[in-house]
Amino acid sequence: MIIEPKIIKSVCLTAHPEGCEKEVEHQIQYVKNMGALKMPKRILVVGCSTGFGLASRITAAFGGGAETLGVSFEKGPSVKRTASPGWYNNRAFDQFSAKDGLKSYTIDGDAFSDSVKTQAIDWIRENWGQVDLLVYSLASPVRVDPETGETYRSVLKPIGKSYTAQSVDFMNQTVSEVTIGPADEEEIAPTVKVMGGEDWKRWISQFQSAGILAEGFRTVSYSYIGPKVTYPVYREGTIGKAKENLENSASELNNMLKDLHGQAFVSVNKALVTRASSVIPVVPLYMALLFKIMKEKGIHEGCIEQIYRLFQDRLIPGKDVPVDEKGRIRIDDLEMREDVQKAVSDLWDQVTTENVSDLSDIDGFREDYLKLHGFSVDGIDYDKEVDLTAYLN
Ligand code: NAI
Ligand code: NA
Repeated sequence: MIIEPKIIKSVCLTAHPEGCEKEVEHQIQYVKNMGALKMPKRILVVGCSTGFGLASRITAAFGGGAETLGVSFEKGPSVKRTASPGWYNNRAFDQFSAKDGLKSYTIDGDAFSDSVKTQAIDWIRENWGQVDLLVYSLASPVRVDPETGETYRSVLKPIGKSYTAQSVDFMNQTVSEVTIGPADEEEIAPTVKVMGGEDWKRWISQFQSAGILAEGFRTVSYSYIGPKVTYPVYREGTIGKAKENLENSASELNNMLKDLHGQAFVSVNKALVTRASSVIPVVPLYMALLFKIMKEKGIHEGCIEQIYRLFQDRLIPGKDVPVDEKGRIRIDDLEMREDVQKAVSDLWDQVTTENVSDLSDIDGFREDYLKLHGFSVDGIDYDKEVDLTAYLN
């Protein structure tokens, strides 16, 4: 069958297997070209299939020479429907790893559940004995609390009052004002429950009880801050409360890990097009402007460039990790540079539907979004029939 992007409300429902595989290969090639990194050798990535998590796993394996265990929650293929992009990415990752003699294993299941944590513990015991690094890179709208069975849903809303700002539809490239009503009190806590640090801590404490954390074990999770214009919907909104909670969890984890001389970090990353970030109101327009400016200045990065730099410059084994006054790693340093932010904020005041393709890199945004699903990838013939049954086993 011919596979085309099918996008409804900024969500793409299809994925191209060969395009996804090619994109994984491009990231691997980037890391190989950049050169070998000093990294620990037994690495678990929770949220391994796309975005920052996939970039972390690729950097670990093909930069650090690490064996990797990955966890993600994917939709597999059927005879008539394509799988989720992460499913194809995982498959490609495991195949490329095997080709280079790098052991890898991927668990497909709900990372919030205790049964997946137990599966990971069993695999680690059997294959490694212990684990050196856990990268926690989940982005999810829903979590079932394993203790109560209750389902929690996260929302992306401002707190206190409604927020009006311009937003872009990146597929038809129209800019329009949107108003997002404030979250109810009953929506804040569930967002923290889903996207805060509770599950991250649960992974580490179950691993600790199982005795599988190596001496000097480290863990890192990802956060975002961004500019003032998006504060109401991001940093000061419901998701910001969850990120604050995640950041505070790092200090609790540091206490837990003391005896092992272990450490927990939160890395604040740059805004990038991923499946998670493209559904946040207002943020895509900011990103399109940001990319324009960062590309002009020659300092634009994607997920793989960001994460390679994280492990090359910041999270180096045996070295003190440079952090900000709140203990966070900052690889959003280039995004937050004063000249960059000033230029973006000047454009922010001028952008309309008529000029959005000149003032912003909305084409680049759209391109990146398509690539996440294996579309618009160089070297793929999209007119060619794809045999979906070849992916069924
Ligand atoms: P993404 O959507 O590309 O990746 C999310 C990953 O989580 C996927 O591997 C998905 O399979 C997995 N996942 C979701 N629910 C799961 C579940 N129940 N069980 C197992 N796996 C599950 O998202 P992205 O953007 O890479 O996000 C990762 C982290 O990076 C998040 O904490 C996000 O807030 C953070 N971040 C993202 C930024 C961005 O601009 N995209 C900027 C800074 C931080
Ligand atoms: Na990820």
